[in-house]
Amino acid sequence: MVIKSKRMLIEKLTGVHSSKKSYYVALKKKIDELLQIKREWEVTFSAVTDLLVFINSDYEIQRVNQAAVDFFTMPEKEILSSKCYHLFYGRETKCSPCIGDQVLRSQKTAYLQSRTRYNRVLDIFAYPAFTEQKEPYGVTYYAKDVTQLMDSIKLVSMGEMSAGVAHELNSPLTAIVGNSQLLLRETSTDNPQHQLIKDIHSSGIRCQRIIKNLLTFSRQDEFTFEEVDLNEIVDSALSLAAYQIEKSNIDLIVKQNPHVPKLSGSANGIEQIIVNLLLNAKDAVEDKTRAAGDSQKGVITIETRVHPEGELAIVDISDNGCGIKQEHVPQIFNPFYTTKQNGKGTGLGLSVSLGIAQAHGGFIDLDTNIGMGSTFSLILPLHKKETDTEPTVKENN
Ligand SMILES: Nc1ncnc2c1ncn2[C@@H]1O[C@H](COP(=O)(O)OP(=O)(O)O)[C@@H](O)[C@H]1O
Ligand SMILES: [Mg+2]
Repeated sequence: MVIKSKRMLIEKLTGVHSSKKSYYVALKKKIDELLQIKREWEVTFSAVTDLLVFINSDYEIQRVNQAAVDFFTMPEKEILSSKCYHLFYGRETKCSPCIGDQVLRSQKTAYLQSRTRYNRVLDIFAYPAFTEQKEPYGVTYYAKDVTQLMDSIKLVSMGEMSAGVAHELNSPLTAIVGNSQLLLRETSTDNPQHQLIKDIHSSGIRCQRIIKNLLTFSRQDEFTFEEVDLNEIVDSALSLAAYQIEKSNIDLIVKQNPHVPKLSGSANGIEQIIVNLLLNAKDAVEDKTRAAGDSQKGVITIETRVHPEGELAIVDISDNGCGIKQEHVPQIFNPFYTTKQNGKGTGLGLSVSLGIAQAHGGFIDLDTNIGMGSTFSLILPLHKKETDTEPTVKENN
C-alpha cells in the first residue's frame, strides 16, 4: 500500500479504519504505548552509571544522561547548549584530531583514553548513529571514569620502582653508617674531623629513613607484632631524630607518662611513625623560622599519655611551626604529596605512617593552625580486638 496521507499513515500504524468508532480509542492506546516505550528508554538511559553523551555532526550536544550531568556538575540546559569539545575539555575550538570526525568519516566505533576536565581520566568509546538511509548523522559517546584505576596503576609501578632503588641503596648505606660510626668512636670530640664524620653518619641515617619509608610504601618491610613499651619506643625514636632537631637549634621537650601500659604492636613500625612525625615537625619549625626570621624560638614537644577512658595510648607531637592550610589537610596523607622543595621531601612520611598506624588498629589525628603550629597525635588501641590477626609481612631484602 502506498501511504499518501497522514490519515493513511495513522490507519497503517493503528490497523483500524478511521471511519470506525474504535479509531480514537486505538489511536490513544498507540500513543500510550509510544509514551511508555519513550519512558522506558529514558529510564534505561539514566540508569547507566557511566557517561552517555549524544552529539550531532556539528559537535552540538543533543542528549546526556544523569551520570554526565553529575560528572560535569553543570545544569543539563547549559550542557545541551555547548559543543562536545567544550564539555569534555573546556576548549573553545575543535580538538585535533577529533574522535567524532573520525567516527563519522569511518562509520566505525573508535576508542580514546584521555585526561579531561577536572583532571579526570576517561575511557571514551564513540559510536556512529545512522539515519534510516544508513547515513551517519551523529555520535554517541560512552565514557567511563578510570582516574582511580590509572592512579593506582601509577602508584603500583612507582612502588615497584622505589622498592628496586631502595634495595640497591641499602648495602652501600649500611657501609656508610657502620663505618662512620666506627670512625666516630675512634675520633675524639676535639678532633676537627669529628663533626665531619658525625654529619656523614647522620646523613646516612637520614637516607636509611627515606629508604625505610620507600620499603614500607612498597610493602617490602617486615612488622612483627609483640608486647611493646611506648615510652621505650619514643626513646629510641628520639635517639634517631634528636640530633637533627637540636642541630637546627630547636628546643625539644619530652613528657612521658610512665603509666602507659604495654601494647601489642611493632616497635620498628611505631618508631618509624614517631621519627617521621618528629622530622616533619622540625621541617615545619624551620619553614616558619625561614619565613619570619629568628623572632620566635622553635619548640617541639613529644608527649605520651593514656586516653581518659583507658582504651587508647597516645603520642602527641606538637610544633610551633608553619601549620597547614585547611585546604591542604585532606591531601597530606596521600603518597608522594609534599610541599617541600626538591630533595627535602618525598611525600611518603605521612602516608606510610598512617598505613602503619592503621595496621595497629589505630590512626593519626591532626590539629593545626596556620602560622601557629600543629599537633599530630598517634593513637593506638591498648587492647587489640579478639578477631584481629597478627599482621606479619615478609621482608625480601
Ligand atoms: N608538622 C607539620 N607542619 C606543617 N606541615 C606539615 C607537618 N607535617 C606534615 N606537613 C605537610 O604534609 C606534607 C606531607 O608530609 P610527608 O608525608 O611527611 O612528606 P614530606 O615530609 O616528605 O613532604 C608535607 O610536605 C607538609 O606540607
Ligand atoms: Mg615527612
